[in-house]
Amino acid sequence: MIGVSGLSVSYGAVQALRDVSFSAAPGKITTVLGANGAGKTTLLRTISGLVRPRAGEVTLEGDRITGTHAEDIVRRGVGHVPEGRGVIAEFTVEENLRLGSLIVRRSRAERQAAFERLYGQFPVLGERRRQSAGTLSGGERQMLAMARALVAEPRVLLLDEPSLGLAPLVTAELMSTISQLCATTGLTVILVEQNAKSALRIADQAVVLYIGRVVADDRAEVVAADERLRQYYLGLVE
Ligand SMILES: Nc1ncnc2c1ncn2[C@@H]1O[C@H](COP(=O)(O)OP(=O)(O)OP(=O)(O)O)[C@@H](O)[C@H]1O
Ligand SMILES: [Mg+2]
Repeated sequence: MIGVSGLSVSYGAVQALRDVSFSAAPGKITTVLGANGAGKTTLLRTISGLVRPRAGEVTLEGDRITGTHAEDIVRRGVGHVPEGRGVIAEFTVEENLRLGSLIVRRSRAERQAAFERLYGQFPVLGERRRQSAGTLSGGERQMLAMARALVAEPRVLLLDEPSLGLAPLVTAELMSTISQLCATTGLTVILVEQNAKSALRIADQAVVLYIGRVVADDRAEVVAADERLRQYYLGLVE
């Protein structure tokens, strides 16, 4: 669904990604793991057209999207939930969803139908639709950030550290929500996480980045069982 090949990205003298290649299969969860500064956010921002690579390309169903405007990439079906969620605290839940729907052309009725469908998927957001987003818990805010990206009905969802700052129980619930979303809608997910343990539980494929390079790319259970990866790259020492 998404193909990344030979991607290199630099910020001035800092090279954030070096010759990164992998692919994300349709309807599956591909997790990208790595420590602080590994290049995870840079990778997602490059896929969604916010950062221009120095070399390499990204394809969506075989078509090159590198060089396309970020808005067009969203319109072509790639949704991005940024690190830190980007929810507007002063806006209500529904106003935040409305922001997500600005990018797609729709009638008022179609827009409202999309909101109702999302309230079905995320009942807590339906209950709080008139509440300001600033009053939501961290987990609810992450749900809102995801719902806001889903309003545009993406085929691919890029999630940047959704578990950041959430308690283990809330993280577990969030991961199962992501997993169900994939299973019921056929959505393709690229899940960036530092929390390798949680992400590996729901992912099909796992890519491990270390200082901008891919050091592993395999089925999630194979990565999860690899002692060397666990110890040196994933911080999963028991
Ligand atoms: N706008 C920028 N300008 C300069 N350097 C940057 C910029 N954004 C990121 N970097 C550098 O690029 C490297 C990769 O950063 P990136 O944010 O992609 O890592 P990350 O894996 O998402 O880290 P974290 O887990 O902390 O979010 C880091 O060395 C970082 O300092
Ligand atoms: Mg990051």
